[in-house]
Amino acid sequence: MVGKGSVLGLVGSPNREGRTYQMVASALEGASKAGAQVELVQLADHVVQACKDCLPWECMKTLKCQYEDPAFEYLSDRLLHCGAVVLGAPIYWWDTTGMVKYLILKMFRVYARSAPFAGLPALGIGIAGGTGNGLVSGLRPVYHFFQMLQMRALEPVPVTRFNWDAARGRAGELGAALAGMAGARHPFAGVEERLLWYDALPYLGLDRAGERRLLAALTTAALPPTADPAIPRGLAEADALAARGEPLRALQAITRTYEAGVKALEEKQG
Ligand SMILES: Cc1cc2nc3c(=O)[nH]c(=O)nc-3n(C[C@H](O)[C@H](O)[C@H](O)COP(=O)(O)O)c2cc1C
Repeated sequence: MVGKGSVLGLVGSPNREGRTYQMVASALEGASKAGAQVELVQLADHVVQACKDCLPWECMKTLKCQYEDPAFEYLSDRLLHCGAVVLGAPIYWWDTTGMVKYLILKMFRVYARSAPFAGLPALGIGIAGGTGNGLVSGLRPVYHFFQMLQMRALEPVPVTRFNWDAARGRAGELGAALAGMAGARHPFAGVEERLLWYDALPYLGLDRAGERRLLAALTTAALPPTADPAIPRGLAEADALAARGEPLRALQAITRTYEAGVKALEEKQG
């Protein structure tokens, strides 16, 4: 059972033992090793219903959805009583899942005005376990959730098949950091401080070309030493093209680098 000071991990995937679960479990393991109580909850066991846009806007005052929704009651109760939260979201079509979105949208409707989560430490992990596309865009809804509810989020963890081991390690480190923060909340002094905090987080401000470059960089970083050195050099060529004011050719070079990296990694795996 979670309580104040404990770290709650939410798995936003229908796949209960998949990559999202493994990433959230790594973060919780880090938190547990650092001394926090932890609890893992599968959103698949508590699928929130779509917000019905109640009018008049009663839930803002009662802090309760006026339609019966046991899943939302369960999850919001867990969130209200934890000391920190980890939200792991699989990437579907460069975005997050419907299950995660339904929770987020109902949380906004009920709690955005009263701000009971102000200063709650939070960590978002986005798992782009297929092509890796959407590793940043799929994290944005999660960080928008944290920002709108005034939580104090740590840097996100963008995950692909290619940076898997490093990402698990980073999730564990950030889980340990959450454990250290879970005892006390530090709300933002005002909206300006909050917006600047979120602007300063890495990855989230990348444009589409920057996101694709990140994906190619993670892919080439995973190549074995025996891989063709021309593959990672493709990124330097892309950067040179971008610096010369040729963004289309630069992005095409990034795509070629990424595709060659994936091919080399898949050949290595057999
Ligand atoms: C409907 C659907 C769309 C997906 N879209 C993407 C995508 O845009 N990018 C990507 O890298 N993987 C994509 N995937 C793969 C998932 O991100 C991958 O299965 C991931 O491991 C999900 O986590 P899980 O193992 O917890 O299910 C998609 C999977 C599904 C089912």
